[in-house]
Amino acid sequence: MSVIETDDLLALARDIAREAGGMLLDRRPEILRTDTKSTPTDVVTEMDRAAEDLIRTRIRAARPGDGIVGEESGEAAGSGAERVRWVVDPIDGTVNYLYGLPLWTVSIGIEVDARAIIGVVAVPGLSTTYSAAVGGGAWAEAGGQRREIHASGARDLATSLIATGFPYAAEGRARHGAAVATMLPQVRDIRRSGAASLDLCWVADGRVDAYLERGLHVWDACAGSVICREAGAVVDRLDGGDLGADDLPEALVVASAPGIAGQIRDLARAVGLG
Ligand code: IPD
Repeated sequence: MSVIETDDLLALARDIAREAGGMLLDRRPEILRTDTKSTPTDVVTEMDRAAEDLIRTRIRAARPGDGIVGEESGEAAGSGAERVRWVVDPIDGTVNYLYGLPLWTVSIGIEVDARAIIGVVAVPGLSTTYSAAVGGGAWAEAGGQRREIHASGARDLATSLIATGFPYAAEGRARHGAAVATMLPQVRDIRRSGAASLDLCWVADGRVDAYLERGLHVWDACAGSVICREAGAVVDRLDGGDLGADDLPEALVVASAPGIAGQIRDLARAVGLG
């Protein structure tokens, strides 16, 4: 794919994410209709579905041959010669959206030949959009200003701020909570935003020094991982597997500032997250 095509794709992804984010802000009903998914705490709202429909419609109109995988309606294979796949989470942080908290995103990644090359994470509640394309740096746009973002210069785990998230199933939560409790006295502090894509962007923007979570799906991680890498962060799976592989939910995903990449991964293993 040429640079020009990558730029066009990035612009399209940014426009679509912002349109969906604006719709989610403007049309959020006072009382949201919800269903549950993997567990009673794993919810989907009518607005997740409406946003995914809008995003799919816009992608289909602009690029009918591309594949799409979305959190709410699964996989639609592409028919184009180039293997382009859009990876969509219409609302990452659905529980925050449900409660009227501002920490939710519209996350859109694009893979070409199974390699993530573009990431856009719109955070309408913070009026910020993060974006990156491979080789072009990572960027945050807010209030008409655009600035390049970089992972923090952290070098010492004891003074590093660590974000995490918990899986929906009770047993996994208990296990992760115990590991995080062991980790807590060894780091500056712990944060839990409730939106994995935002955690990844916060690593990319130096708002936290590292992030780790087990149980992510490709739509949680795809866009944010491109943004992290372009910002100089190290993002990978502790088991060495591929972030785009089907077994991603089994793996611990770790994103960190480069200066603590070894320390945070050693600590994750030491507290039993390996
Ligand atoms: C969830 C959020 C949450 C993370 C979960 C994700 P959803 O996504 O990113 O922070 O802990 O693992 O599933 O369900 O709100 O799209």
